[in-house]
Amino acid sequence: MSRLERIRLKMQEAKLDAFIIASPENRRYMSGFTGTSAMLFITLEKACLLTDFRYIQQATEQAPNFQVVRISNMYNSLAELGQKAARVGFEEEFTTYADYLNLKEALPQAELVSQSKILEELRAIKDTEELAKIRQAVKIADDAFAHILQFVERGQTEAEISLELEFAMRRNGASGGSFDFIAASGIRSSMPHGVATTKTIEQGDFLTMDFGAIYQGYCSDITRTICFGEPTEKQQEIYEIVLKAQKAGIAALKPGIPGREVDAVARGIIADAGYGDFFGHGLGHSVGLAIHENPNLNLREERILQPGMVITIEPGIYIPDWGGVRIEDMAVVTENGCEVLTQAPKEFIIIE
Ligand code: GLY
Ligand code: MN
Ligand code: MN
Repeated sequence: MSRLERIRLKMQEAKLDAFIIASPENRRYMSGFTGTSAMLFITLEKACLLTDFRYIQQATEQAPNFQVVRISNMYNSLAELGQKAARVGFEEEFTTYADYLNLKEALPQAELVSQSKILEELRAIKDTEELAKIRQAVKIADDAFAHILQFVERGQTEAEISLELEFAMRRNGASGGSFDFIAASGIRSSMPHGVATTKTIEQGDFLTMDFGAIYQGYCSDITRTICFGEPTEKQQEIYEIVLKAQKAGIAALKPGIPGREVDAVARGIIADAGYGDFFGHGLGHSVGLAIHENPNLNLREERILQPGMVITIEPGIYIPDWGGVRIEDMAVVTENGCEVLTQAPKEFIIIE
């Protein structure tokens, strides 16, 4: 079934006559259009892509299943197309209040229905083509990690390391980084999201690098923590606990169970080791066109894992004023378990 056929089935279930899609990822997912300005207007019979002069050629090439409508004013065009629609869906998370007021004015006869689930559910299960792109995004990140192990030296700054990771990935076909990279060294590694600064790497430091590539629109996400110089016993201990929790999370990842059950397995190992209070975030999240998608692996996640979901497993222990360790892989849920996509080594790496 095509994506248009699938969204129309879901629109029928939700009794929507039309669906307006404006977020870049959903727009791309449905139409193939990668430009920065457009709206999709999908009904049970029609599929229109509304954009301006700058993008007509690109939209015509990239979105062959959509009728490209050249606009001068987006809401005037929507008003014309949507005259007869009684129930019109819009994206709950993406639509601003100002957008909503504009929609209300353009479609005064319509009931506007906020929607968050339809696209989320479609995008959660990756098809073969998406998986191939994700595999490549993961490989680019794996290769960048191998490169950075040759590159890093004490005295470099976190910012230099972050930049080198980006260079390496863009040289290998990434269109960019999938988020602001984290390169957190020494006591800064206790910040789960410590973005790179001008701090230099010193002897004895942990260095947590969390980075990823975008390849043909699809993201990868990997974290590795390495150590400069001979680790202390405590550094060794913390690393081993996180690695054990991460491997247990992978072993628990399978279809048919809610995300919270996988989270609980990894969290239990960290808690049993006495560090439960130092793992304050979820175990993982789905990844695709966006770096953070649904469902998640966390304490509250009730949604059931299904084959084709691509998800991270990323436990960590973060001790204030001391440092921290996180290890993150991506995996795809299979019929009876999961396949880990990330190939970068994750045994404790020590840079002499
Ligand atoms: N870099 C954010 C994350 O791993 O989710
Ligand atoms: Mn990450
Ligand atoms: Mn992640």
